[in-house]
Amino acid sequence: MGFQLLISVLLISSFYSQYGESASDFLSVRDFLSDSDNTNANQSQAFQKAWKALCAGKSKSLVIQANEAYTLLPQVFQGPCVASNPHIQIDGKIEAPKQVKDWGSKDIENWLSFDKVSDLTITGSGLLDPHGESWWSSVKFESRPQALQFNRCNNLIYNGLTQRNSPKNHISISNCIQATLSNIHLIAPANSPNTDGIDISLSKKINIFSSTIQTGDDCIAIKGGSSDINVTRVDCGPGHGISIGSLGEGGATETVQNVYVQHCTFTGAANAARIKTWPGGGGYAKNIRYEDITLINTKLPIFIDQQYSDRSSKSAKGSAVKVSDVTFRYFRGTCAQPIAIKLDCDKIGCENIVLEHIKITSSSPGTSLSAYCHFADVISSFVNIDIKCRSANHHQAPSPSPELPSQYDQPHAQLPQPSAPHAQTRSFFSFLQFN
Ligand SMILES: *[C@@H]1O[C@H](CO)[C@@H](O)[C@H](O)[C@H]1NC(C)=O
Ligand SMILES: *[C@@H]1O[C@H](CO)[C@@H](O)[C@H](O)[C@H]1NC(C)=O
Repeated sequence: MGFQLLISVLLISSFYSQYGESASDFLSVRDFLSDSDNTNANQSQAFQKAWKALCAGKSKSLVIQANEAYTLLPQVFQGPCVASNPHIQIDGKIEAPKQVKDWGSKDIENWLSFDKVSDLTITGSGLLDPHGESWWSSVKFESRPQALQFNRCNNLIYNGLTQRNSPKNHISISNCIQATLSNIHLIAPANSPNTDGIDISLSKKINIFSSTIQTGDDCIAIKGGSSDINVTRVDCGPGHGISIGSLGEGGATETVQNVYVQHCTFTGAANAARIKTWPGGGGYAKNIRYEDITLINTKLPIFIDQQYSDRSSKSAKGSAVKVSDVTFRYFRGTCAQPIAIKLDCDKIGCENIVLEHIKITSSSPGTSLSAYCHFADVISSFVNIDIKCRSANHHQAPSPSPELPSQYDQPHAQLPQPSAPHAQTRSFFSFLQFN
C-alpha cells in the first residue's frame, strides 16, 4: 500500500514536472486561441498556427487532450517540416461544421489533409467527425470531400483514432511510401453512399492492422499504382469488403501488385475478397493473397469482376486489366446468397487463380451454394463448392474434400503470425519520449 502510494506520488510528480511546467514540451491549440474569440474560423486558425509551430520544430508534440473539442473548417497541414518526427496526439474530438453551407467552400477535396509530411505520427484515442451525413443526400459523389488525406507522405504512423461519418472515403493514402495504420475504427451507416474506409492509391509499403471498419462501401480499396500492401486482423462489415480496384476506368492503364490480406473477418459484408477491373482498361492486378478469412453472413465472399462497369459506359474496347496469381486460402464461414464464388473474367482470362481450403456454407440452413466461373484459369483443392469454369484451363486437385485440417476450423487459427510490426515499437517509443 505504502509502496503503491509512493509510486503514485512519483508518477504524478513526474507528470507535472514534464507535462505541466514547461509549456514548450508540447504544444496545445489552446496556446493559440484566446477565450474571447472562439469561432470555427478562430479554432481553425489556432490549429493551423499550432501545426506551423510543430512543423517548425518548436516542440516534439501537439497534444489535444481528452477534454478538448474543436470545430475545423477544411485544412491543409503542409510540409515539408523542419521537425524530424512531428507527433500529434489526439485524445479529444475534432469535428467539422454540421451543415454543408458552413464549410465555407463546396469545392474542396478533403476536410483535413497532410501534404508532404515525412515521419509524421498521429496517435490517440480521439474522434474525428466531419458530419458527412449532411453531404450524403445533398451533394453528388464527385463533389464530396474525403475526410482525412495523407498525400506524399513518407513513413507515416496513424494509430488509435476513431473516425465517423465521412462525406466520402474516411482515409486516403496517396503518393505515400511506408505507412502504418493500426487500431483505428471507421464507422458510418451501411447505407451511407461511397463511404469507403481506407483508399490507397499510388503508394507502396502500406501496413494496416488490428482495426475495425464498418461503412457503406469498400472497407479498404487498393487502387492503381499501389504495391506491397499488408492488411492483417481487420474486421470489416458492414461494407463491401477489402477490394483491389477498381482499375482501368475510362481506358486507364493501372497496376496493383503484392497485396497480402490475412486474419480478417467479414460480418454482414457485401463481399470479402474482391478484385474489380473495367473493360477497356490496361495494366494488371497480380500477386494477391487472401488468407485465413472468417465469413459471417457475407453476401458474395469471393469475387473477381473483370467486367466491372456502371451501366453508363458500355464501351468494351477489347482490352482488359490482366488479373493473375491470386490466391484465396483458408476461407471459412457463412454466405448469405446462393453464389459464394464468382470469377467473372474477360476473354483474356484470369490466370493462375488458386483456391485452397475453402469451406463456406449458406447462412440459410439447407441451401446449397454454387460458384460462377467464366474464363478463369483455376487451381483448386479442398474447396467445398464445386467450381466448373467455362473455356479456360481448369485443374482440380483430387476431389474436393469437405474436411479442413482441424486447426483451421477455429476463427483466426494459428497461421504464422506476422512478426511484431516495427512501427508499433516506434510509436511506443515516441510516446515515451513525449512523456
Ligand atoms: C478570430 O477571427 C476573427 C475573424 O475571423 C479575426 O479577426 C481574429 O483575429 C481571430 N482571432 C484570433 C486569435 O485568431
Ligand atoms: C508484408 O508481409 C510480408 C510477409 O509477412 C513481409 O515480408 C512484408 O515485409 C510486409 N510488408 C509490409 C509493407 O509490411
